[in-house]
Amino acid sequence: MLNLGKSQMTTDTQYKSKTRKPLTITIMGGGNRGKTYAEYALKYPDELKVLAIVEPNEINREYFTSLYQIPEHLSFADETSFFAQKKLSDAIFIATPDHCHYSQAINALNNGYHILLEKPIAQNLNECYDIAALAEKKNLLVGVCHVLRYSKCFQKVKQLIESKELGEIINIIHFEPVGLERMAHAFIRGQWRKQEDAGPIIITKSCHDLDLIQGLVGKKCKSIASYGALNYFKQENAPKGSTDRCINGCLVEESCPYSAVKIYLKERSWLRNFALTADEKINEEIIRKELKEGLYGRCVFHCDNTVIDSQVVSMLFEDNVTANFTMSAFTKKEFRTTRILLTNGEIFSDEKSITYSNFQEGTEKRIQINETSKHGGGDHVIIKSFINACRENSKELLPSNIDDSIEGFRMAIMAEESRIKKKMIEL
Ligand SMILES: NC(=O)c1ccc[n+]([C@@H]2O[C@H](COP(=O)([O-])OP(=O)(O)OC[C@H]3O[C@@H](n4cnc5c(N)ncnc54)[C@H](O)[C@@H]3O)[C@@H](O)[C@H]2O)c1
Repeated sequence: MLNLGKSQMTTDTQYKSKTRKPLTITIMGGGNRGKTYAEYALKYPDELKVLAIVEPNEINREYFTSLYQIPEHLSFADETSFFAQKKLSDAIFIATPDHCHYSQAINALNNGYHILLEKPIAQNLNECYDIAALAEKKNLLVGVCHVLRYSKCFQKVKQLIESKELGEIINIIHFEPVGLERMAHAFIRGQWRKQEDAGPIIITKSCHDLDLIQGLVGKKCKSIASYGALNYFKQENAPKGSTDRCINGCLVEESCPYSAVKIYLKERSWLRNFALTADEKINEEIIRKELKEGLYGRCVFHCDNTVIDSQVVSMLFEDNVTANFTMSAFTKKEFRTTRILLTNGEIFSDEKSITYSNFQEGTEKRIQINETSKHGGGDHVIIKSFINACRENSKELLPSNIDDSIEGFRMAIMAEESRIKKKMIEL
């Protein structure tokens, strides 16, 4: 069923041995993720060419037109004018906000495009099934950007499991440390703060993790139970002396780990989501304006956030394999840790290294992961797999093709149902 790990079959040698035209793509959504994926075309122009851009934000659109030399007639400010054209490129990379994914994916498939689709696939399970069914009907590929599947670390972990050297998996314990600043920026102040609008964090953030656990186990999940709550980031926990905005005379601002003044003004981090007009560039004046009036200047205890800040999920898979997952905001680091317990050994990974023991041999070995790029290199390996899969028109070459990716989404939906209904869910 799941083929996490097989993307390694796509090697540089294979590419070089085939003299073909680069795969042409349209970037739909030229923000943070769209830019990251498009960089592959700068690095490997023989494999990928950014032909068109669909992006309402003028600054982001201009970034693409100038960097990728996109002519005016292939630069679109909205998807309607883009989809009104006949098919322009081989594929579309959809890297727009979550709520756009479903309609854009359906439109893209109806217009004959292969798709690389950002996670989450859609906003509910039926939408996921719709996309998968249409892709099947049209004989087109949909790759889901579950980039962790393609990271060097998890590919090696998967290979170790598949080698059977350490026996069969009994249990997985996986931890996602969201980190204080990411939590404050994206899930308390920013665009994923409201469960009602953005969806639950188990989908918007942890769909990666459930997908990964499912991919490592390689079996169907049979039942799931989950707990979690918004524990801390609410009015009643506001420190004495705090104000609605960090710059409005808050008495505890200087010692507050979530201070917007510290994060945005002093450290100049997480600035990429600040709304700018075409003639604006980030500077102190703009940051101060945001701190005074914008979403990101608000005290984390005085926001309108409803998304939970910690969650645990227990899963039972076929053959009695079990897994536990914990997501928590309350961490300093952002590296995931995974412990896999098998009949003849144990694997531990922290994304930077893997340590594994073989019980029968009495050995312990360590693999250092020398990969500094984001998502452990997965952001570009997924593109490589997608290009190869499109060339061969084969979803087998795409580890996170939509059929394989829906299972993790389904688990996330069921985990949320379990958390809300306070009962175990049979899948
Ligand atoms: N795979 C991952 O690890 C990962 C990491 C972060 C975000 N994401 C996902 O990637 C997607 C994009 O996130 P981001 O961080 O790049 O956000 P972003 O805000 O930086 O970029 C989104 C871009 O889409 C544009 N846009 C908005 N509506 C559009 C429309 N109708 N048509 C075309 N473009 C439109 C925006 O102007 C913006 O430039 C989200 O779905 C997010 O959940 C995935």
